Amino acid sequence: NSCDIGVIGLGVMGKNLAMNLADHGYRVACFDLDSKRIDAIVAQDEKERGDQPARIVPVTDLTELTSALISPAVILLSIPAGAPVDAVCEQLIKVGINPDDVVIDTGNSLWSDSVAREKRFADKFLFFTTAVSGGEVGARFGPSLMPSGSEQAWQRVGPMLKAIAAKVDPQTGKPIESSTPGQPVTEGEPCAAYIGPNGAGHYVKMVHNGIEYADMQLICEAYQVMRVALNMTPVDIAKVFRRWNKGPLDSYLIEISAEVLEQIDPQTNQPLVDVILDKAGQKGTGLWTAVSALQTGSPAQTIAQAVFARSLSSLKTERVAAAEILAGPDIAPVSEAQREATITQLEHALYCSKICAYAQGFQLMKSAAQEQGWTLHFAEIAKIWRAGCIIRAVFLQSIAKAYESDSALPNLLVDPFFAEQIATYQADWRAAVSLSAQQGVACPAMMSALSYYDSYRTAVLPANLLQGQRDFFGAHTFSRTDQPIEEKYHIEWSDPSRPLQLIQ
Ligand code: 6PG
Repeated sequence: NSCDIGVIGLGVMGKNLAMNLADHGYRVACFDLDSKRIDAIVAQDEKERGDQPARIVPVTDLTELTSALISPAVILLSIPAGAPVDAVCEQLIKVGINPDDVVIDTGNSLWSDSVAREKRFADKFLFFTTAVSGGEVGARFGPSLMPSGSEQAWQRVGPMLKAIAAKVDPQTGKPIESSTPGQPVTEGEPCAAYIGPNGAGHYVKMVHNGIEYADMQLICEAYQVMRVALNMTPVDIAKVFRRWNKGPLDSYLIEISAEVLEQIDPQTNQPLVDVILDKAGQKGTGLWTAVSALQTGSPAQTIAQAVFARSLSSLKTERVAAAEILAGPDIAPVSEAQREATITQLEHALYCSKICAYAQGFQLMKSAAQEQGWTLHFAEIAKIWRAGCIIRAVFLQSIAKAYESDSALPNLLVDPFFAEQIATYQADWRAAVSLSAQQGVACPAMMSALSYYDSYRTAVLPANLLQGQRDFFGAHTFSRTDQPIEEKYHIEWSDPSRPLQLIQ
């Protein structure tokens, strides 16, 4: 009984989380069905720990795992989301687990599954979750963690999760980097904060991923406009991204996009991006975000467009055929001066669209929190996304500030800083979107973001006409602008005198 924590599942994420825990002084009992993975982590620990005692304790089954742990036990699952999580939980019950032991699911689980699991296992053990963002490097050197579940479990596992999380310089909002194994970052603010009960953490991670989809798609659209309408090479576009990465767009996703564009294919010596097949994959978290937005009635069109853009990209054969049939505009050549001006417009278009995507994500979390009875702290959420996760960006510091000065902000767009930013850059945003429409370069996310902005700032939308249509064909009733909203009216449209009726 000497291990602080057990890790089940030693794939890339599990192994790296276990090594991260070891770096922070925890003794970790490790189990995987594949014994080669156990051997690999033991070897890695041997290599990295120097003359220090072993930090990784290999175990051969779940019984051995539970008996290796200090009581009450903490067991971290790094296994595929879905049925495997239930199966391992059931096995842990079989081998013997106590009601005050904590089992932490770290996968990309559907948030409602986490809610159900917490209820289902309530009298067996404390089912806790922590969503993990940051890929394999994040898991090893500091991920962003979105923990949720019982507060009792959080008291127990909070210090461990805060220790292994990415750290941020609170002044600048920038990550404090360490990529030296065994030398963890200990100063700075940890990117791990208790999100709430019952799957709240997985909900927040799901929205993180929805925003990630939108962020990625927006960058791809800026790339495509430069590539097609401005006739630029991948290397030139990479240079533009590197320049943008010094301003308000400074983010991990811009940085890696530049790196991808600079990469040369070793087989053909062409830019690698040109030989990567243009069919986007997806594992489902963006889709879940869009579905949840539709279900809660919270507009998140830029996130949804990013999911649709991936779906449309996968219709490769149809697109290739349609390219021969469907007309687009002639692409007008641009002068050198126009090119520079357009690049600046695109930078601002990307920035404004990004603000909208985040506004949609935070608005969605707000609606879900109301529905589920969660108290989500949006400043904290923005803060734990400043480092470690895929959407880490300097910009999140401004979002944190917005919610720190008004925790009940109805929408990020009306925060004075963001309202002013969009006011400053909207002309460029509109110009970039117009250019893409004129040149026939599809920019679904950027365009939807602009429509979101224009709709949100419009006091009178044509939903008045829409309500008229609904009442016309279905007697669905409407409220009047000059009467209390609860009063519902209907006009007998087929009656020539069109009498107005108060329905209730
Ligand atoms: C993260 C990522 C991670 C995963 C995505 C990829 O935050 O670390 O979001 O969870 O890489 O789920 O998603 P797709 O395969 O759907 O692009």
